[in-house]
Amino acid sequence: MIASLLWFIALMVTITTYSMAFQCYIGHNESREEMTCSSGWCFNGTLSSGDVIYICDSSGTCPLFGKGCHDDQVVQKAGFKSVCCCNTNLCNKGNCLHSICLHESGCKPSGCRMDNGTLSCGYYQINKAYYEDCGQPGGKGEEAWKECSDDYNCATTCVQA
Ligand SMILES: *[C@@H]1O[C@H](CO)[C@@H](O)[C@H](O)[C@H]1NC(C)=O
Ligand SMILES: *[C@@H]1O[C@H](CO)[C@@H](O)[C@H](O)[C@H]1NC(C)=O
Ligand SMILES: *[C@@H]1O[C@H](CO)[C@@H](O)[C@H](O)[C@H]1NC(C)=O
Repeated sequence: MIASLLWFIALMVTITTYSMAFQCYIGHNESREEMTCSSGWCFNGTLSSGDVIYICDSSGTCPLFGKGCHDDQVVQKAGFKSVCCCNTNLCNKGNCLHSICLHESGCKPSGCRMDNGTLSCGYYQINKAYYEDCGQPGGKGEEAWKECSDDYNCATTCVQA
């Protein structure tokens, strides 16, 4: 009896701790904060104006829509271009770096090319000056810069610096 009671308490503590830890981004455009979300559903919506809002959905909308992004008529009538619902921790924000990576190179080790008069290389099209500023994570010199730029982890380290 006592053993099962203790087990029950341990379980409740685990569940409470877990739900306390569940967070969503809440805010607007670039100004977002990480906040605890007790409903367990994070939401983001892109308005027709281009503004993006991030909330913890407690309205019951997300359980209806289900996980994923939606851009049907219902969503558009509500004034959104698209909305996304998701139910994992801090899931309601796209990966910015990944977007940059896609934009610059299709997120591929693309080698070097001239970009408006400056030689730019790799995943994030990093130029030499930028590489020096980010602390040269792949080592010093021309070769190290080019190799680092085409190495996903090294280039990402540079861009995050
Ligand atoms: C949010 O971003 C959109 C699209 O980039 C922009 O049009 C809008 O002015 C921004 N709003 C604020 C309050 O920064
Ligand atoms: C909204 O959240 C989804 C994940 O549910 C994510 O893929 C998408 O990039 C986010 N949109 C923005 C503008 O952050
Ligand atoms: C290209 O470089 C020139 C001079 O540095 C600058 O004025 C111009 O805005 C740049 N164009 C682009 C598309 O970056």
